[in-house]
Amino acid sequence: MTQTATERALNFSAGPATLPEPVLKQARKDIWDIEESGIGICEHSHRGPVFDNVINEAVADCREVGSIPDEFEILFMQGGATLQFAMLAMNFLKAGTVADYLDTGVWTSKAIKEAKKIGSVNVAFDGSVTNHDHCPSDDELHLSQDAAYLHYCSNNTIYGTRYEHVPTTNAPVICDMSSDIFSRAIDWSKHSMVYAGAQKNLGPSGTVLVVIKKSLLEQCDGSLPLMLDYKAQASKGSMLNTPPTFGIYLMGQVFKWILNAGGLSAIEQRNEAKAAVIYDALQGCNGFYSLIAREDCRSRMNISFRCQTPELDAIFLETAAAHRMSGLKGHRSVGGLRASVYNAFPFEGCEKFAEFLTDFADNNG
Ligand SMILES: Cc1ncc(COP(=O)(O)O)c(C=O)c1O
Repeated sequence: MTQTATERALNFSAGPATLPEPVLKQARKDIWDIEESGIGICEHSHRGPVFDNVINEAVADCREVGSIPDEFEILFMQGGATLQFAMLAMNFLKAGTVADYLDTGVWTSKAIKEAKKIGSVNVAFDGSVTNHDHCPSDDELHLSQDAAYLHYCSNNTIYGTRYEHVPTTNAPVICDMSSDIFSRAIDWSKHSMVYAGAQKNLGPSGTVLVVIKKSLLEQCDGSLPLMLDYKAQASKGSMLNTPPTFGIYLMGQVFKWILNAGGLSAIEQRNEAKAAVIYDALQGCNGFYSLIAREDCRSRMNISFRCQTPELDAIFLETAAAHRMSGLKGHRSVGGLRASVYNAFPFEGCEKFAEFLTDFADNNG
């Protein structure tokens, strides 16, 4: 059985993605027997003391990792980030109101499509005009008056762009942080709700972290089915039904790993260094590679690029696979190549990849 980062393949997958090795090793043990209870984590009742401890610690550690103020509720939910696209509109996009959406790529387009099934949407920024090569500045936004909320996505997994600022608006701000949650500090004073599918920076797919202002919960009027109602979910501590116990457990372990690594500021510094190594290599190859994102909004999590031809992209993927580097194919909507280097992706892996990029350009230029 392979046990160390050096023995395992380098996994550049956009999600599900690389998880921290200490977390995987702890999980391997706890799946068999957690807390010397003689029972594995997936086999414990969610109403028992062992799981009670798991979820309480996960909430407390999440709050500490993200410096999340008390005025926010922390929820663990199911259905992936995609269910949030519909659910947030069902809860907060009431008849007679309009919500502002910033369209910066495939995932925001999907969020818009879902919201339109519920109510009235104003697309306040349409990034397709420039092939989603950037995130907008405030003066590019066409906001509506008195919007119910503004929805944006902090990091666009497919195009490899990210915001350097939180969009300015008077409306409550809701953010899809699926692909960069806890990769950098979050300004809670500028957000009313943040959500993230777990499968990039937090844990297994299907589980979702939702951080929501308690005052926003007051808008949930009880008319929705319970599972779709944030207030109902909050009132039962994410345990309206049997929660995704393993997902919550694993997220909890990832929070502990972040705290042990020095918290978000240390993680952010490491992410900056990791991304810089790769961007420098890409740019140092005399135009052999081209980047998809505009320089001022480059993601530190997803680095989308291409060689000069699709044929070269295909050879790149084959050669990378021979070097045990996997998950580098770009999303089908953009083509090309993409290296996803989330929090748990090792720095040494980025260095190895940078070397590979340079060698490949030398050998194929
Ligand atoms: C930014 C973003 N939002 C939403 C999603 C959808 O997540 P899920 O598959 O958990 O529904 C993804 C998936 O990759 C994503 O990258």
